[in-house]
Amino acid sequence: MDDAIPNVVWHHQTVSRSARELHHGHRGCVVWFTGLSGSGKSTIANEVDAILHCRGTHTFLLDGDNIRHGLCAGPNILNEEYDTAFSDRFGLGFGPLDREENIRRIGCVAELFVSAGLIALTAFVSPYRRDRNRVRQRVETQGRPGDFIEVFVDAPLDVCEARDPKGLYKLARAGKIANFTGISDPYEAPENPEIHLKIEKQTPTELAEIVVAQIELRCKL
Ligand code: ADX
Repeated sequence: MDDAIPNVVWHHQTVSRSARELHHGHRGCVVWFTGLSGSGKSTIANEVDAILHCRGTHTFLLDGDNIRHGLCAGPNILNEEYDTAFSDRFGLGFGPLDREENIRRIGCVAELFVSAGLIALTAFVSPYRRDRNRVRQRVETQGRPGDFIEVFVDAPLDVCEARDPKGLYKLARAGKIANFTGISDPYEAPENPEIHLKIEKQTPTELAEIVVAQIELRCKL
C-alpha cells in the first residue's frame, strides 16, 4: 500500500461530547497534577476525587503508581504474563523515552475521558515540560481551550526526601535506583500552571478544596 494513503480513518460517532456533558450536568476536563515523588499529588488528587464524587460529579483518578501496574507496566510486571521480547518492547521504565511514552499514553486516555464528558484527574510526576505541554496541546486541540488544567504540587525536594513515604529517595541516594527524579534526573517545574499549590502549612484537604473550587468554576455548564 502507498504510504501516503492513510490506512486508518477516523470514524465519526453519533453521541457528541456536549450531549454527554448535558447528561452528566457538567463539562469534562483534564486536571493534571505534576510534582516530585512524595510531594502529595496522589493524596490531594484522591481527596479532590472523593469530594467531587460525593457532590455527584463524574470523575476518575489516573494515578502514576497504579497505572504502572497495568497500562504502563514495566518489563518485570509484563514478564509475568508475556515473553521477554514482548515485555522489553512494551514495558516502561523511567528513562526519558519511557516517561515520554508513559505521559503520551496517559494523555490519550485522559483525552478519551474528556470526550466522554468526564473529569479526568491525573497524578504523575511528569517531570518534562515538553511532555506535559504535548498533552495540553492534544487535549485542547481535540477538545476545547481550557480543557487542560495543570496543577503544580510544589513541595521542595528536601521536604519530599524527608517524607520519603516509599523509601525510594533513600535507595536513590544509595545509587540503587537510576534516573530518580530530583536526585539523578531533572524535574522541570511548570512555568504557568493554572493552579499552583505550595506545600507549606495547609492540609491535603484544604489544598484539595482549592482545586475543587477551580474545577467547579471551570466545569459549569
Ligand atoms: S513519570 O515520571 O513517568 O510521570 P510516574 O508518575 O508514572 O512517573 O511514576 C512515579 C512513581 O514511580 C513515583 O511516585 C515513585 O513511587 C516511582 N518511581 C520508581 N522509580 C522512579 C524514578 N526513577 N523516578 C521517579 N519515580 C520513580
